[in-house]
Amino acid sequence: MTALIEVDGIGKNYGSVVALRDVSTVVNAGEVTCVLGDNGAGKSTLIKILAGVHQHDTGRFLVNGEEVRFASPRDALDSGIATVYQDLAVVPLMSVWRNFFLGSEPTVGRGPLRRLDHRRGRETARAALADMGIDLRDVEQPVGTLSGGERQCVAIARAVHFGAKVLILDEPTAALGVKQAGVVLRQVAQARDRGLGVVLITHNPHHAYPVGTRFLILKRGASLGSSEKADISIEELTRQMAGGAELEALEHELREVAST
Ligand SMILES: Nc1ncnc2c1ncn2[C@@H]1O[C@H](COP(=O)(O)OP(=O)(O)OP(=O)(O)O)[C@@H](O)[C@H]1O
Ligand SMILES: [Mg+2]
Repeated sequence: MTALIEVDGIGKNYGSVVALRDVSTVVNAGEVTCVLGDNGAGKSTLIKILAGVHQHDTGRFLVNGEEVRFASPRDALDSGIATVYQDLAVVPLMSVWRNFFLGSEPTVGRGPLRRLDHRRGRETARAALADMGIDLRDVEQPVGTLSGGERQCVAIARAVHFGAKVLILDEPTAALGVKQAGVVLRQVAQARDRGLGVVLITHNPHHAYPVGTRFLILKRGASLGSSEKADISIEELTRQMAGGAELEALEHELREVAST
């Protein structure tokens, strides 16, 4: 099986800042590749390369087995790679169904008589959301009235509906409570089970572990390796993320302080 996405020894500098160096992983259909790491680890830099926002300086980036270099986010979208950013590109005062289409609304009539097909638009958006287990009473309500979790779900449903093959989610659960994070993670599992390749960025190993297929841990731009779920326990994942040895050293230091 050819990977949907493969990065091989990829690196990126911003001027003299090395944001990413020698990172390798794959994204397969029907799997979730989780990218974990602390603030400034290079997570967003990696997904911005995949999403066509930035270009890599070193290494290779392959889509369906072919080396690519996207010039813009449009190129990535055309290759079936859809990205949902943390600060969501949704218009809060616009209705849920208009946000669902954002510029691709169905129309009726021709030429100067062409106008939005409200009825079909509402119905399509409602059905697509219901299909993903999101039951909204009224798709005419402004997106701003939805909870953070529901907004993430609308963005995910939109990407799935418009035929994305790879879905990239940058910290979709960061600002959410336990229950809403659960709703979003269920969407991630559903997208995976529909055969999409998902890239899930998160700080939280407890969010990554239940849905993840493999885990790429970044630390100050470097990779601590990409492990398959069978090869790593949640305890080990948490320990690596926290920088296990460093925490132990800190604990030791604090004990010394307490005993003086
Ligand atoms: N446009 C930029 N110009 C210069 N340096 C940048 C730029 N974007 C990111 N960096 C630097 O690159 C490093 C990695 O940043 P990145 O945003 O990828 O981290 P992150 O893992 O997404 O962090 P967070 O969890 O805080 O979102 C950081 O040191 C950051 O300061
Ligand atoms: Mg980030």
